[in-house]
Amino acid sequence: MKEARFQVYRGDAKAGKLQEYTVAVEEGMVVLDAIHRIQAKDAPDLAVRWNCKAAKCGSCSAEVNGKPKLMCKTRLDDLPLEEPVVVKPMKTFPVVKDLVCDVSWNFEVNKRIPKFTPRKDREWRWMQEDIDRVQEYRKCIECFLCQNVCHVLREHGEKPGFAGPRFLVRVAGLETHPMDAGNRTKLLKDEMGIGYCNITKCCTEVCPEDIHITDNAIIPLKERVVDEHYDPVMKVIRLFTGGSNKKEG
Ligand code: SF4
Ligand code: SF4
Ligand code: FES
Repeated sequence: MKEARFQVYRGDAKAGKLQEYTVAVEEGMVVLDAIHRIQAKDAPDLAVRWNCKAAKCGSCSAEVNGKPKLMCKTRLDDLPLEEPVVVKPMKTFPVVKDLVCDVSWNFEVNKRIPKFTPRKDREWRWMQEDIDRVQEYRKCIECFLCQNVCHVLREHGEKPGFAGPRFLVRVAGLETHPMDAGNRTKLLKDEMGIGYCNITKCCTEVCPEDIHITDNAIIPLKERVVDEHYDPVMKVIRLFTGGSNKKEG
């Protein structure tokens, strides 16, 4: 039977090292299968977070050969097995143990976003294209791979002034919903730090749900912030038309 070598991070936030294991490889295996084999045979105390093994719960995020991946969606036959496969925890978040990170900062960011506010000034009827747009944002499985790869968070740590791409996607889902009455542009500008994003698209490249994070979420939100807070022509137009009837949350 074919074998592959794996180098897996063992340790915590203070100290750790790559430990090498050999795994018997069968057709169709993914990286998470190999980690489970290592747990079963060599390292029962190896910590790894997972739930669905179907790329839907967002739990098994890690860095495989230096690339942010869902371990349950990364097939071994797509990796060069003549070299050891290196599996490390996400770099942007503090390691709890081995491959498990503390991602709780993300949930704190989420709490700061005002929830959906139903409009009362119009009939609840909207177009299919509005539904399609909102559903793209709602595909997010909160794997936080985009948060992990975004250089603003990765290089500067958990930045209080920048929410990260996952939460810009969440705000886009609310702001572009035709039946939402909230206005989160001030929050985007002042607290979520949308100006820090320089549209590198790294977040889009790693999203396992293929959400067009930069083109469909961040750029439209940046345009809204500019229209509402910086564009003098739009300010004058709003003065005469009464402005958007979305209220700041
Ligand atoms: S496009 Fe913006 S949010 Fe996405 S990775 Fe680049 S800087 Fe971060
Ligand atoms: S937007 Fe994509 S990469 Fe980011 S948390 Fe959601 S599913 Fe993961
Ligand atoms: S185990 Fe659920 S996404 Fe990988």
